Amino acid sequence: MKLTIDDVRSRFVKHFDGETGSVYASPGRINLIGEHTDYNNGFVFPGAVEQGMIAEIKPNGTRNVRAYSIDLKDYVEFSLDDEAGPKATWARYIFGVCREMMALGVPVEGFNTAFAGDVPLGAGMSSSAALESTYAYALNDLWGDNKIERLELARVGQRTEHKYIGVNCGIMDQAISCLGKAGNLMRMDCRSGEIAYFPWNPKGYQLVLVNSCVKHELKGSPYNERRLQCEHVAEVIAKNHPEVKSLRDANYDMLEEVKAEITADEYKRARYVIGEVVRVLTVCDALEKGDYETVGQMMYETHYGLSKEYEVSCEELDYLNDIAKEEGVTGSRIMGGGFGGCTINLIADELVDNFKKVVSEKFEAKYGKKPVIIDVVIGDGARKLC
Ligand code: GLA
Repeated sequence: MKLTIDDVRSRFVKHFDGETGSVYASPGRINLIGEHTDYNNGFVFPGAVEQGMIAEIKPNGTRNVRAYSIDLKDYVEFSLDDEAGPKATWARYIFGVCREMMALGVPVEGFNTAFAGDVPLGAGMSSSAALESTYAYALNDLWGDNKIERLELARVGQRTEHKYIGVNCGIMDQAISCLGKAGNLMRMDCRSGEIAYFPWNPKGYQLVLVNSCVKHELKGSPYNERRLQCEHVAEVIAKNHPEVKSLRDANYDMLEEVKAEITADEYKRARYVIGEVVRVLTVCDALEKGDYETVGQMMYETHYGLSKEYEVSCEELDYLNDIAKEEGVTGSRIMGGGFGGCTINLIADELVDNFKKVVSEKFEAKYGKKPVIIDVVIGDGARKLC
């Protein structure tokens, strides 16, 4: 993490009454594979990154939260007891977490807080989940005797997205932000909540993100529509196959059976999801055997599906994927919700430097700006810093 406690503390002390509070952090994430599978009850395979959010918090003896966003230089005050909450989106994340923690019986009191982050915004690296997890973890520590388990803290963040922001996201981003472990990827079964950690120590390969800097924001994007399309296909399939509760339970044959009853778009969306659920498991097996070629091949298949079937890519991301293929990158794909943000690339050590150079030059030649390249280091989940 480039951001330090002092970056936040110096602003907190200046902005409030000169005293210090407790400091908490939560990370953003990468996802090796398993995109748009979480809300279909399938598998995901993310890892926490070094970049994240840091917040300093000090109870202020009132029922009000006084919050300062260091990055936006914006200050908002809201009451914990006012159901409407603040207008500013960044403050609604904090408000939503407070309200959802209170709904779980945590006796949250008013506090002063300042926070900052070094997860690039709109890069598909889940800066909002990092923010939610930071506050959920902090409130559990300050007022909840740490009684709420990390997965439930993740659900607090997810409910915040649903109820206070309007994004009907799955659980992946908040789960990895709360449960990430340095040096490990985490496979999660999004139906049962079962988690398995896989040490990420790829001999001879590296993960590199290339941020197209096309800003992606799920709020107001067709993300919710994609989710509805998937749920509709699952309902239609379930008429003849009652065991199908979500697309995770479906297969290609079942999809063919209902082709005439669903729209062409719904058919494509479901094809992508059914394939992606299987790809996550294929990648886990391949990793255990050290078979990175298969991991990479699955990543390219995911990119194809996200671009042509799920249709959440954009020209810039497809171009980054094409360059990766030309340069012999082992695997490359859009990462996260899509509509912009990063590609994630699995690259053999000896090709890394050249790829970084070529992708920067070609992207700049075509779009007039350099992409931002980020080396992935797998870090820890939510924690107290001091
Ligand atoms: C966003 C959502 C996640 C997940 C991904 C796509 O990051 O917050 O729940 O659906 O998109 O895999």
